[in-house]
Amino acid sequence: MTIKSALRMVACVLQLCIVNGQVICERQMTAEWRVEPKPSVIKWKPRENICSDFYAECWNMNKSVTGEISEEENLSIPQICPLQLQLGDSLFISSEPSFESYGMNVVNVSKEEFINCPKASFLQEQLIFVCQIRGLHQVDPNWLGAGTHYFAELHKRGPLLCNMGLRLNVTVKQQFCQQSPNAPLCSGHGKCLSHVWEKAYNCHCFSQYSGRFCQKFDMCSTKPCHNNASCTEKSELSGDSYECTCPPKFSGKNCTEIVGQCQPHTCFNGNCSNVTPNTFLCECDKGFTGKNHLCFLSYNNGFCVIIMVSTFALLKQLF
Ligand SMILES: *[C@@H]1O[C@H](CO)[C@@H](O)[C@H](O)[C@H]1NC(C)=O
Ligand SMILES: *[C@@H]1O[C@H](CO)[C@@H](O)[C@H](O)[C@H]1NC(C)=O
Ligand SMILES: *[C@@H]1O[C@H](CO)[C@@H](O)[C@H](O)[C@H]1NC(C)=O
Ligand SMILES: *[C@@H]1O[C@H](CO)[C@@H](O)[C@H](O)[C@H]1NC(C)=O
Ligand SMILES: *[C@@H]1O[C@H](CO)[C@@H](O)[C@H](O)[C@H]1NC(C)=O
Ligand SMILES: *[C@@H]1O[C@H](CO)[C@@H](O)[C@H](O)[C@H]1NC(C)=O
Ligand SMILES: *[C@@H]1O[C@H](CO)[C@@H](O)[C@H](O)[C@H]1NC(C)=O
Repeated sequence: MTIKSALRMVACVLQLCIVNGQVICERQMTAEWRVEPKPSVIKWKPRENICSDFYAECWNMNKSVTGEISEEENLSIPQICPLQLQLGDSLFISSEPSFESYGMNVVNVSKEEFINCPKASFLQEQLIFVCQIRGLHQVDPNWLGAGTHYFAELHKRGPLLCNMGLRLNVTVKQQFCQQSPNAPLCSGHGKCLSHVWEKAYNCHCFSQYSGRFCQKFDMCSTKPCHNNASCTEKSELSGDSYECTCPPKFSGKNCTEIVGQCQPHTCFNGNCSNVTPNTFLCECDKGFTGKNHLCFLSYNNGFCVIIMVSTFALLKQLF
């Protein structure tokens, strides 16, 4: 080491001590998938973008939300603000002239080496860039497959700069929001999102839609089942389907048909029509209520009375 570079090293350490302020990494807790890939530039220098406290600084989470995270290790090591990319995004690393004289290499390391910083040597195949960094370098997309990658600084004399924070955690996420390659994200009925701790982007459907790609219209949300019947979505690939479970005395696809057969005056103020040998419907005259009931009362009468009377009429029917 020349005297000049030794002095630079000292200056660097001092700088770091002086500016060892809190860096809180900018972060969205939930990100939405961008249709266009985006480039990111990381400044490879031990200032400005180095965080230490795992939750409060690096992941920008306050105490009130850390309860959500259970399995994450609370590591307080200085590091470059951890990065999350979409699969297909490009990544550039830029050095600063004052650090270039160290001959910095960026190497791909294991999680353990990321935490403890790598030993003084590395294999050629761990090098992210064939040459030492000087200026702006693009990370080859081969290093940015889906998953978490750890990059660390290593120069001839050891891991000093890594220990100061020149190490980077890059998580690359892919999306599972398209049913087929050219299909719209979430079938156009939802958002393709990823929370910071999730490993991929997935659909979050708008109301009335469900399914992994929000491809399914939730028929039950349109309340097709009448007469207090319960509605169940049927997971048929062919289409949107549902099933009504009718209460006793009602039947049919939507539980609109009444169990029984037409008799004279079954429908008090309307016409009776048999639907099946066991069910019928009343078509009420104007002003009388309830296709599903027996057209006994006009609309402006109370609901309770209708129920009572139609129940009475039904009983009359059945017994
Ligand atoms: C903590 O986070 C919650 C939810 O993100 C936010 O409402 C609250 O204002 C934050 N508190 C502080 C002290 O930053
Ligand atoms: C993480 O560690 C730091 C320092 O060790 C501590 O101040 C902080 O409260 C810890 N956070 C959690 C959520 O455990
Ligand atoms: C380097 O990266 C590749 C792919 O990202 C990974 O499979 C490999 O284990 C890494 N090597 C080391 C030494 O961490
Ligand atoms: C790296 O970042 C991921 C999230 O992107 C996180 O789950 C993981 O714990 C981080 N690893 C370390 C060693 O900090
Ligand atoms: C059942 O309800 C659905 C939706 O309201 C409607 O399209 C369908 O025609 C009804 N079927 C019968 C048999 O009433
Ligand atoms: C409708 O069904 C629910 C639950 O099955 C029941 O509690 C309620 O009393 C029923 N309402 C009528 C008007 O029958
Ligand atoms: C009942 O039947 C009569 C005769 O067929 C018809 O004129 C009338 O419009 C029907 N009423 C209803 C409500 O369908």
